[in-house]
Parts: sequence; C-alpha cells; structure tokens
Amino acid sequence: GQHLLSVSQLDRAALTRLFAVAESLRPVGEGRMVCRILEGAVLGSLFFEPSTRTRLSFESAFRRLGGSVVSTTGFTFSSMAKGESIHDTARVVSGYSDAMVVRHPDTGSVAQFAQASVVPVINAGDGSGEHPSQSLLDLFTMREELSSRDKSIDGATIAVLGDLRYGRTVHSLLQILGLYDNVSFRVFGPPALALPSGFFDLVASTGNRIVECDSVDEAIAPADVIYCTRVQKERLSEEDEQAVHLHGDLLNTAILQEHASPDAIVMHPLPRDSRHNSFDLSPDVDGFPGLAIFRQTDNGLLVRMAIFSIALGVADRVADELRPATW
Ligand code: CP
Repeated sequence: GQHLLSVSQLDRAALTRLFAVAESLRPVGEGRMVCRILEGAVLGSLFFEPSTRTRLSFESAFRRLGGSVVSTTGFTFSSMAKGESIHDTARVVSGYSDAMVVRHPDTGSVAQFAQASVVPVINAGDGSGEHPSQSLLDLFTMREELSSRDKSIDGATIAVLGDLRYGRTVHSLLQILGLYDNVSFRVFGPPALALPSGFFDLVASTGNRIVECDSVDEAIAPADVIYCTRVQKERLSEEDEQAVHLHGDLLNTAILQEHASPDAIVMHPLPRDSRHNSFDLSPDVDGFPGLAIFRQTDNGLLVRMAIFSIALGVADRVADELRPATW
C-alpha cells in the first residue's frame, strides 16, 4: 500500500478511480450498508490535535469495511508525553496495525511518521501543511453539486474565503484543483491572513487563474462555488493576534442574497465557529439551498472508505462485498 501524504501524489486518473469507488459505496435508498472486506484489519488512529469529522469518519470508514481501530488522542495519552519520538511512535504503532491515520500540529510531521512506518500512513492534517482527504471529499462533493447544475469543475469559478494563510484545506484544495482545466479562483482573506504568495505562483503554473479580491462581495459575485474557512485561531502568532481584528460574519444570508448567484454552492470544511462575531459562516445560511456542508461531511465517509480500499488493495472487490444493513 501507498501513503497518502499530499495531494501532489494524485493525478486525474487517480481521482477518477477514487471517486468511482466512493460512488459505488453510496447507500441505496435510506439504509446503511455493511461490509466485511477488511475483517481482521486494524487501523492505528493517532490524533495529536482536536478533530470531530476527520477522526470519527476515518474510524467509522474503517469499521464499516469490517476492520477495527486502535487509537490515541492528544499528547497526554500517548508515550510522546514521555519524550518518545515520531520515529519510534510510528514504527511501534505500525507493528500493531495495517494502516495509520495521523493528525499532528507540525507541517511535515506526518511525512516523518510515514518514513518510520511499515504500513500505509494517511495524512489527516499536518499543521498548516495539507489535509488531502478533506480535498478529496471537497472535490467529490463539488463535482456532484456542479453536475446537478449541468456544470463541471473544469471551467468553474471558485471563491475561497477566510483564513487563506493557515487554512491547510485551502492549501490542498488550490493545489489539487490544478488537475482541472480553466478554473478561476477569486480569493479573499483579511490582510493578516492572506494567501502566501507561493500559492499564486502555484496556481498560475497549472494554467488556472487566481484573483485576489478586496472584499467578500467582490469574490463571490461571479462564483459557482463559495468555499469558506474558519480562522485558524490556534495557529495565530502574537503578532497575528495584534494584526487580526475580526468581527461580524464572513458570510451570511444577507451577503449571499445581495451579492451571490442564487444557484451558488456554499461549502466549508467545518468546523465553523458558531460563536458570535467569530468571522465565520453564519448558521443563518442553513436554509440556503446550495449549502453543501453536511453533504460534504456525509461524503467524507464514502471518500475515506474508498481511500482505505485503495490503500489496502481491495478497491476492485469492495462494492461486491457490500450488504444492506439489517437494522
Ligand atoms: N474538516 C476537518 O478537518 O474537521 P475536524 O477538525 O473536525 O476533523
């Protein structure tokens, strides 16, 4: 099996295959599906940062394929609290498991886990580096939402809003969309959280277009897709804290109604910070028809089942092993 550390490992053929596997795992009708194809397999789940979606959907995905999970969360409960290195931790846990999923606050750290592991390692977020499985579920969702409007990712206009500096989902997404043609990005972030200049070069090198906008209104007006992100408060330096004075909503119904197409698709990797004045996607958008945030989270399960199926070499057989659940 192969590690999944960066979206740069993927090409269009890999995406087509992964999305076909994910699609084949979609439940028919209302019911859940069960599968025993990974019976006996063990996932090592190591999360050194908070997570709801990524950890629980990866763990559910592995169990729904018939496997089981061993896990540790935070620095307090693993022997890293006693000074154990990434190298030793990775080698040890890989001896107990058939795949590992790792989230860690340091950029590049999950690649270090992979170097010492004897089983495939999946990057579940490394600091402000990358979050490849999130990009895959984002693309899977975007593709489906656009297709229902007779559009495709090729040729789409995508507004990207919020913390463009520290948001790893943005970094992975801008990169992976380089596999698509004729995409126009319109980005807006507060000045202290602007997109690092390297990403403008990266997008330009793929032949797509990117425009830095001065306001949310300007960014979203022509957008087919509006991708919002949370301010990554846990990554702000003291200097950033001084520079960033945010209040109000990043996006809410009033802004959408005034400036966006009624047909726009609104996405967010979540979590959104629903506290007052958090400068995030307001919960008042929850009735907006194009709001795809919970379709993203639901799709996350399918995409992560597909990731495991490919990493563990069972992708060609997994759909045949699916059975409707009996509860
Ligand atoms: N989108 C995402 O990574 O969410 P969690 O931090 O809850 O895993």
